[in-house]
Amino acid sequence: MEAGLFEQWAQVALADCEKALDHLVPAAAPAGLGAAMRYAVLGGGKRLRPLLVLAACEAVGGDRDAAVRAACAVELIHAYSLVHDDMPCMDNDVMRRGKPTVHVQFGEAQAMLAGDAMQALAFEVLTPNVGMAPALQARLCALLARAAGFAGMAGGQAIDLASIGQSLDEPTLRDMHRRKTGMLLQASVMMGAACGRASVATLAALDDYGAAIGLAFQVVDDILDVTQESATLGKTAGKDQQDNKPTYVTVLGLEPARQLARDLRLQALQALSDSRLPDPARLSLLADMVVERDS
Ligand code: IPE
Ligand code: IPE
Ligand code: MG
Ligand code: MG
Ligand code: MG
Repeated sequence: MEAGLFEQWAQVALADCEKALDHLVPAAAPAGLGAAMRYAVLGGGKRLRPLLVLAACEAVGGDRDAAVRAACAVELIHAYSLVHDDMPCMDNDVMRRGKPTVHVQFGEAQAMLAGDAMQALAFEVLTPNVGMAPALQARLCALLARAAGFAGMAGGQAIDLASIGQSLDEPTLRDMHRRKTGMLLQASVMMGAACGRASVATLAALDDYGAAIGLAFQVVDDILDVTQESATLGKTAGKDQQDNKPTYVTVLGLEPARQLARDLRLQALQALSDSRLPDPARLSLLADMVVERDS
């Protein structure tokens, strides 16, 4: 697939997700909560997880309306995880997506509640009264809950905070990264695939693809923290070192971390070729994006 066509596809996908999120995140939530939620979710972020959902759905010929809901739900969980990640009790960051963080703008209690409400909203979005088969609703909820909860993002974040000042070995670091970041990206792929039909073998290959890009994503996040400026990242650069966090850069070194990201990209591409999907080009270009991005 040529780059221009992919760009066009991504623009349409992003516009659809932005419109759906704008519609779904309620301005009218009480006592300023809606403003905090909308500030956290709308008009920022690369939206990589929604793109993965839609690309996986299209690769299996799935139902686009269901996939747009799934994409919004994943992005809501992701944006909530960022709001809480930035709070003073966690990473204590003041900039996110090029703006003051939610707790800086609205106060800590409102940031905590906005995150809580965004998490609940994600599951509400997956369970509409009409238009989506109950079995699909249940499957999407299960995939998302698993990736967001103790075994996934929240568990990984707990390991992250417990690891401050520690020198982890690579398998332990990998486990933390897979949980805190990898599983939500992997779930994005599997939720997109759940919106269509695929063989057990294809689903297993997509799961491998998701695992590879999921880990690669956080390896690259660790790299960018030391190689980019805050203005490019839209968040505070050099924060991991400042907070004494073990990362792929501290554990392996910068060049081996870059090599690992490239290796994981190849693993992801191999999984796509194993998947026997007729047209995995968008997923393949998204794997490139994960590794080659500079923000
Ligand atoms: C940042 O995620 C947090 C991690 C899980 C590493 P993104 O880099 O996807 O952040 P946005 O959504 O583009 O702001
Ligand atoms: C965060 O990892 C992962 C999440 C689950 C939010 P980081 O703490 O490295 O993310 P950034 O660098 O603040 O975006
Ligand atoms: Mg963190
Ligand atoms: Mg952080
Ligand atoms: Mg980081």
